[in-house]
Amino acid sequence: MGCLHLKCTVHGIVKALCCIAVSLPSPSSAPPAHTFAPSGAIDPVRKVLRLMCASEAASTEQPYASLTRIRDQSLAFNAERSVHAALLYMSGWYLQWLEGREADVMQVVTRTTRARSHARLRVLHYGFGPRLLGDAWCMGLVQRPEARGGVAERVNQLRAQLVGGKQFSPLSVWRRVTMPMQAGESTGSAMETPHCRVLISSALPHQAHAFVSWAAERTAAQVIEHRYAGEHTPDVGLAYADCTVKAVCLRLVAAARHCLSLGLSKAMHCDFTHWVCLFANDPTRDAELLQRAIDTFRDVDATHRPEIVGVASDPGVHAWAQVVLAQAGFLYRPHDTQQGGGNRALFDQLRLFAQQAPSTSGSIWPMAE
Ligand SMILES: Cc1cc2nc3c(=O)[nH]c(=O)nc-3n(C[C@H](O)[C@H](O)[C@H](O)COP(=O)(O)O)c2cc1C
Repeated sequence: MGCLHLKCTVHGIVKALCCIAVSLPSPSSAPPAHTFAPSGAIDPVRKVLRLMCASEAASTEQPYASLTRIRDQSLAFNAERSVHAALLYMSGWYLQWLEGREADVMQVVTRTTRARSHARLRVLHYGFGPRLLGDAWCMGLVQRPEARGGVAERVNQLRAQLVGGKQFSPLSVWRRVTMPMQAGESTGSAMETPHCRVLISSALPHQAHAFVSWAAERTAAQVIEHRYAGEHTPDVGLAYADCTVKAVCLRLVAAARHCLSLGLSKAMHCDFTHWVCLFANDPTRDAELLQRAIDTFRDVDATHRPEIVGVASDPGVHAWAQVVLAQAGFLYRPHDTQQGGGNRALFDQLRLFAQQAPSTSGSIWPMAE
């Protein structure tokens, strides 16, 4: 009886948030077959509510100051309830992803709806499954001069799809709102374009970003910068570009090494088909980079791990990486820079991967009963 009352109350709040009547998934809904937990700290069987809401910022504060203030006012409240949160600001919009027990998430949402610094919350995802967010808090800022209306269009499209009975996975909602595909992912046309997402990290600072900038310039693509911070960690950068050549789209994402260990990043890494490691022929730095790759994917199901592409001129580095990764259960592809060709040879190699990539239509999750 008490439980039923709680369920009704919770659904009442979410329905109110939804603004218009929408049939909401029930807690008993089966998780989608392809869900998995990317972090070892998480029990992969235990299900949580994953709720994603977009809202319009209504404050004159600087975005970074707003995010920091919200973090400071949220951490203790969320921690008491074991609710994990990722919050991103872009062009006058907030996108928040919350995970935890249903009643706890709804307490956070109730508190959030009272905040004066935003308005008009819209639910974009409501589903149950294992936790995907590995950390208690992550926040980000998109440094892209996009009109507010551009984000509104994507949010409204996702909202209309949800109301129509079709919802995307949390990763897909996050990507569609915060990292829209230049080749038209939000309209669905990118589904027909061969494309793959490649993560790039370098043993030396700035090299991954430099490669993405080079590829963007070559293909007349735009480089978009994000900054992320965790509960205690300083902010770190991520930059991406959608490089389309002859109807093949390659999303290249450069992530600073510290960005890889954020809980949100760990959840998103499962989206990548390949992870390029730009080695430096420096044993300490190379070992550190490889260790990050292994740590990030250690607990991810082998079928969701990206192939690791090692870029180095020394055959000894490839032989070492091959052995270390094989022991950890990863596939390794050496890219030898001794042959010359520089950035162009690597880019052409990655384009080939994109051409061969299987169609990625798996991000639509069925609505629960
Ligand atoms: C976009 C957004 C997200 C928020 N997320 C949380 C949260 O996860 N946990 C929480 O306890 N409060 C959250 N809050 C509420 C804040 O902790 C705080 O109550 C609010 O910012 C009060 O200030 P205001 O009324 O000036 O906005 C959020 C507020 C906003 C605007």
